[in-house]
Amino acid sequence: MPDFLAIDNFSRAEVKALLELALELKQAYHSGGNEPILEGKILGMVFEKPSLRTRVSFEVGMRHLGGDAIYLSPHEIGLGSRETVPDVARVLSGFVDGIMARVFAYESITQLAHHASVPVINGLSNFNHPCQALADMLTILERRPSLEGLKLAFVGDGNNVASSLLHVCALLGINFAIASPRGFELDRTVVSRGHELASQSGADILETSDPIDAVSEADVVYTDVWTSMGQETEAELRRRVFQSYQVNEALLGKAKPDALVMHDLPAHRGEEITNAVADGANSVIFPQAHNRLHAQKAILAQLLA
Ligand code: CP
Ligand code: NVA
Repeated sequence: MPDFLAIDNFSRAEVKALLELALELKQAYHSGGNEPILEGKILGMVFEKPSLRTRVSFEVGMRHLGGDAIYLSPHEIGLGSRETVPDVARVLSGFVDGIMARVFAYESITQLAHHASVPVINGLSNFNHPCQALADMLTILERRPSLEGLKLAFVGDGNNVASSLLHVCALLGINFAIASPRGFELDRTVVSRGHELASQSGADILETSDPIDAVSEADVVYTDVWTSMGQETEAELRRRVFQSYQVNEALLGKAKPDALVMHDLPAHRGEEITNAVADGANSVIFPQAHNRLHAQKAILAQLLA
């Protein structure tokens, strides 16, 4: 496993192995601490966008495994403007043992990976968010005997988070339903790749504009912000378009009674999710956020040890 760029670069067996490793590392951490398997290793963390979870979980994860991390803020590197992406990749490769990057264009991630001589991890791009998808699967796995055959409903924008979720679900045999307003659906190439993966796992994929259709009998109800980082000028328009895509108690009532409520966070409470649902009995949004730490430790252990 040279890099972690997109979840569909991996086989079902590889993703399952990462989840197993994450569970082991989580258990070890809670019973005395992790072995220092990354002693002396440094992760360079390049951010073109803000972050709470990704930054803190990678930094803390490296320290728990005996290594360390360096945070490079959006103002420091100027990826592609102050310096070309290939040059950043080549320079950083001489200093650090791995690179984690959060970028606008997915191409910046693939370029970094192409030109770096150390492993590269995708910490979110406009196109996908594979670390989130892995942590999400870990969160479900801890609460259900098996992932196969479950139904996950995503309500909202066909964005980066939804893309990686579709692929991980299709890979692992989880039925995936998405309700998005017209014009905000998942990218066609993302969906066709989803169908390709689903044809091997047997997962169903449903695309609809009706949130009730998507959520009906779902085991997991998932939502994300209507306006992603970089789309701020569209916020007002999006608030209008997505108005009927709010995950509230009425919509959640259409899912299975014990359905898990998930959100990658940050949440815009009162927009895509109500307080009652985010803080309700079905919500796992905070354990989900905390699982970023454990899922990413598995990625770090695979790539850097
Ligand atoms: N979910 C997630 O990636 O959160 P941050 O943007 O805070 O890193
Ligand atoms: N779709 C959101 C996810 C944030 C973790 C964004 O890209 O801003």
